[in-house]
Amino acid sequence: TIVSGKQVVQTARANGYAVGAFNTNNLEWTQAILRTAEAKQSPVIIAASMGAIKYMGGFKTVAELIRNLDSAMNITVPVAIHLDHGDYEAAISAIAAGFTSVMFDGSNLTFADNLEKTQKIIEFAHTVGVSVEAEVGTIGGEEDGIIGSGEIASIDEAVIMAQTGIDFLAAGIGNIHGVYPKNWAGLNLDHLEKLAAAVNEAVGYDFPLVLHGASGVPDAQIAVAIKHGVAKVNVNTEAQLAFHQATRDFVLSDKDLIGKNYDPRKFLAPGVKAIETALTDRINVFGSANK
Ligand code: G3H
Ligand code: ZN
Repeated sequence: TIVSGKQVVQTARANGYAVGAFNTNNLEWTQAILRTAEAKQSPVIIAASMGAIKYMGGFKTVAELIRNLDSAMNITVPVAIHLDHGDYEAAISAIAAGFTSVMFDGSNLTFADNLEKTQKIIEFAHTVGVSVEAEVGTIGGEEDGIIGSGEIASIDEAVIMAQTGIDFLAAGIGNIHGVYPKNWAGLNLDHLEKLAAAVNEAVGYDFPLVLHGASGVPDAQIAVAIKHGVAKVNVNTEAQLAFHQATRDFVLSDKDLIGKNYDPRKFLAPGVKAIETALTDRINVFGSANK
């Protein structure tokens, strides 16, 4: 069932768990996310980056694909259709195409500019019931050509951003997109706790925060982050690695093309299964099963 991002994220925050925002890349990926969420009876956010949207054939194609699969697969759990790390134009296009949630990533702009554009998007999005995520600080590493320095979010900026009326907020706390380096210092959970306390006090309720770059973050750190107010956890790389490994193993093991395994519907199956296994494990850690 297609719902707004706000509905799933605020319910998660109010009940002390987090919803997974899983990036999609194609038809099979989208089916794997939906199948896993339904099997776990877990709400889910299907996230599409600007790069993935371009790859898949545009905003409308992605929104309609998710909507059509949601109904064809008889999905009963809440599903949000989310734009991941969008620029201003992408956010507007996603809203027009039927996304139910957008992230405006203005982390590469000055804070004043980030704030101003976030406010404009909120105005447009909220009139049609679409949720908005903004970002303060930056996420380190690279995702789909978006490069961040890993700047820890300023608490003052987080407070100002939360007061715009945004639905949830991503804050840089030492998190990095992609594979973590061996010498990574871990999430700055003390900073997260302080930031969350300041934001909650300013808005007057338990405000939902977003953890990006969750692939490879130890489960214990994710659990503490959820305790401090994270209600949406973004996972991309982990599913990609699982898909890649399983596909590679299968293709390399099948030199004789036993049983028409050159048919993509056959050789993609082990990779898809691996995505489902990886996401099932994440849902267990985030606590969103049977919610
Ligand atoms: O926006 C997407 C996420 O932050 C994904 O990060 O690929 O490190 O899991 P990840
Ligand atoms: Zn991200």
